[in-house]
Amino acid sequence: MSRSSPWEDRAGEACLVDAPSKLIQQRYSCRTYANTPIPETIREQLRDFIAAHETGPFGTRVRMALIAATQEDHQALKGLGTYGFISGATGFLVGAVPEAADANLEDFGYVLETFVLFATGLELGTVWLGGTFTKSRFADVFDLAEDEMLPAVIATGYPADNRRGLDVLIRRQAKSDKRLPWEQLFFDLPSKAAGLFERSLTRAAAGLYAQVLDMVRRAPSASNKQPWRIVRQGDRWHLYLQRTWGYAARNALVGVADMQRIDMGIAMCHFELTAAELGLAGHWERSEPELDPPDALTAYVVSWVAG
Ligand SMILES: Cc1cc2nc3c(=O)[nH]c(=O)nc-3n(C[C@H](O)[C@H](O)[C@H](O)COP(=O)(O)O)c2cc1C
Repeated sequence: MSRSSPWEDRAGEACLVDAPSKLIQQRYSCRTYANTPIPETIREQLRDFIAAHETGPFGTRVRMALIAATQEDHQALKGLGTYGFISGATGFLVGAVPEAADANLEDFGYVLETFVLFATGLELGTVWLGGTFTKSRFADVFDLAEDEMLPAVIATGYPADNRRGLDVLIRRQAKSDKRLPWEQLFFDLPSKAAGLFERSLTRAAAGLYAQVLDMVRRAPSASNKQPWRIVRQGDRWHLYLQRTWGYAARNALVGVADMQRIDMGIAMCHFELTAAELGLAGHWERSEPELDPPDALTAYVVSWVAG
């Protein structure tokens, strides 16, 4: 899986406005926006970025469009609802992937998260919406094809000075400001005799990669479930998805896509961008270690091979 990094544009120039780790730390899910439209020049930058970064690490092309209000016309967003969870957003990034493509949701997560970080650098707020958006309306406006799926959208705009009460409540309910402790997320596999998630990785043993893992830990995830687990085996960093029991089935019942696979793509984006920032070379490979996952909820996704 070799491809140019979202860290660079087609000409090989760095194109995120700031260092990825800075943008990752700046980002949060913004649910209260000031009603100010995004200026044309910024909309153009966002559209250029989308056009240059539409393919994920597994090779899926994500078809995307930025639907945004203009100074003269707020009608562009008419009917694109968020059930009241979001107020004042003046733009939405809508994306679709082929339904049948392998790893389509991981690629979707990766590609849209690069947009989130780019937008963060332009002082825009963002929030991923996988459940709380009127999917059928977005599908209509976006002209969704039969063989495509529209798993989530990103709401964007300029953050309001003050959060609404509902915004504060959602954050509190999802415990959005908290993350699982490092020891429960990152593991070491010194020999095959050990089990996958038996030995926590120390920061010292992780070396420079400790910063990479810190940035994965900051990633947004659906309902803040943080399903990513990473196991270091020598120069290989294996990414696993540890599903929340019943979550995908409950979501499927109400037509919501498999959010936790999207979360894994987002984690890959944070991992790869931070590694690039630190000058840590590597590439993605699917080479599952010959070790059984501890339970049926855990699935191997991909490995970062350093060097
Ligand atoms: C794939 C995905 C889907 C999400 N869907 C929603 C959603 O439908 N509504 C919502 O308000 N937040 C949604 N979120 C935002 C999460 O609740 C948020 O990322 C998490 O609580 C952590 O907070 P933070 O992003 O501020 O760090 C989603 C996040 C992800 C990654």
